[in-house]
Amino acid sequence: MAFADYQDEIYLDGLRGVVPPFPMTFDELEPLAQAAMPPSIRSYVAGGAGDERTQRANVSAFERWGLVPRMMVGATDRDLSVDLFGMRLPSPLFMAPVGVIGLCAQDGHGDLATARAAGRTGVPMIAPTLTVDPLEKVAEELGDTPGFFQLYTPTDRELAESLVHRAETAGFKGIVVTLDTWITGWRPRDLTTSNFPQLRGNCLANYTSDPVFRSGLARSPEDDPKAAVALWARTFGNPLTWDDLPWLRSLTDLPLILKGLCHPDDVRRAKDGGVDGIYCSNHGGRQANGGLPALDVLPAVVGAADGTPVLFDSGVRTGADIIKAVALGATAVGVGRPYAYGLAHGGEAGIVHVLRALLAEADLLMAVDGYPALADLTPDSLRRLT
Ligand SMILES: Cc1cc2nc3c(=O)[nH]c(=O)nc-3n(C[C@H](O)[C@H](O)[C@H](O)COP(=O)(O)O)c2cc1C
Repeated sequence: MAFADYQDEIYLDGLRGVVPPFPMTFDELEPLAQAAMPPSIRSYVAGGAGDERTQRANVSAFERWGLVPRMMVGATDRDLSVDLFGMRLPSPLFMAPVGVIGLCAQDGHGDLATARAAGRTGVPMIAPTLTVDPLEKVAEELGDTPGFFQLYTPTDRELAESLVHRAETAGFKGIVVTLDTWITGWRPRDLTTSNFPQLRGNCLANYTSDPVFRSGLARSPEDDPKAAVALWARTFGNPLTWDDLPWLRSLTDLPLILKGLCHPDDVRRAKDGGVDGIYCSNHGGRQANGGLPALDVLPAVVGAADGTPVLFDSGVRTGADIIKAVALGATAVGVGRPYAYGLAHGGEAGIVHVLRALLAEADLLMAVDGYPALADLTPDSLRRLT
């Protein structure tokens, strides 16, 4: 089945008088999803660092590129599949790790809904460290779709090892280590409401279910949740340096991907340290304001990666954005808020809709503009608006 078929489904439903229950654009979805979330979750998901200029710039950066159409190509069959770490994926799209995704669902189990949406669409999920349900339960819902585990490296190395080994045992296909969040960036929306979900005991299931974490507590997290939160706060953020990379690499034989790399020198150091994937991202503008849009640093990251797969996220809102990121060299392209909003507004079905709509738009763009395969999309396919 082609991704574009989603369009036919929608028009054919229309012949029976059925219109889609979910909006077609991010701009329409955003307010509906925000209205569906309690204020504390809304500000955490929607907000970013500082005055959110970088967050907005991530999105507008895509407007400065345009795809040049090619005609008489006859792109009746499009191939959006990609090879990633030896796996053949149906498309370059993936779901970036979203730490409070559990709480975005109306039933409070959004990690499981996201995993099920991954299973239904073939779009991989990067399961976050910060979940409502433990990683083993999340993995069970993925079906045949590969999942990755995102690690916030704790200061306790033994705990880090335990989390990675649990992820391996649960069947995750790669470990994504996030580097830019060992400390929380300045987030005015959350500061205004003094709201930080984890400090209220939310999304700590991977810790409270972990034998190493539990062994550091006098009483169980169930009996003394406050002590568990205090231990979490003491161990959460590890300000890693390049000296830690050999240790990180030694933790697993699974593909190791470093998230948050935006400078070519950092990419080269990561490669020298034996990583399998480079993840170019500025955390959706949530961590550091005043930075460049992630899309603007992508070409240099791809150049330095020199053939090592590059995952990309931050600001992707449309199928056209996916195509542009691929043309600029991304191997795989992630979305964060779009699927979080799909979940908040429409549950698992809402995520499936968001993913299918993104893929249908990307697929149709390749058809209309005459790019039958992702490999046909290169920087030469784009022009920069002046
Ligand atoms: C509410 C929220 C929570 C996030 N939590 C995490 C996390 O736990 N780990 C992580 O590596 N990235 C996290 N991110 C960043 C995403 O992985 C991704 O980099 C970002 O959302 C991409 O930008 P976008 O939202 O513009 O698509 C989070 C993003 C959001 C919106």
